[in-house]
Amino acid sequence: MKEYNIYISACIATQEELSLKERELIREAVDAAESSYSPYSHFAVGAALRLDTGEIIKGSNQENASYPVGCCAERTALFWTGANRKNAVICEIAVVAINGGQVTEVITAPCGMCRQALLEVERRQKKPIRVFLCGKDEVVILNQVADLLPLSFDAEKMSV
Ligand code: THU
Repeated sequence: MKEYNIYISACIATQEELSLKERELIREAVDAAESSYSPYSHFAVGAALRLDTGEIIKGSNQENASYPVGCCAERTALFWTGANRKNAVICEIAVVAINGGQVTEVITAPCGMCRQALLEVERRQKKPIRVFLCGKDEVVILNQVADLLPLSFDAEKMSV
């Protein structure tokens, strides 16, 4: 048996180290969290996507009394984009959560389902999506969604 190591590269930055455009995207994600419908978890998540056209698309988590029916902020923004901006390329995504009226101390990272959904979009568009995982003071930046989901499943694995 051989050991198999998987490495990903990420940066940790303070808000001050980010560009104005990057900070703008994070502000939009915070703004998106305001529209969260999360009466069950009380965990408001916002996602903001920047398209190649410069447009910013926002999404927030939308919950339901039947819990699994709810949708995360990332997929809300992603699927809205797919439905309304068919040929757009997504360049960046910022994710942030608000708990008790404050941006959470620790960063918010997408759940496994959102990673899978984001990865398929990244593969389809053949352009990497930069990822900003935001906490109150620090932001973790990844150069592509693929780094969030090593050993991933995709449609090619279904061919026989
Ligand atoms: N949630 C998101 O919207 N995005 C994430 O990245 C993690 C979790 C939502 C789902 C649910 O409404 C709440 O946060 C608690 O899990």
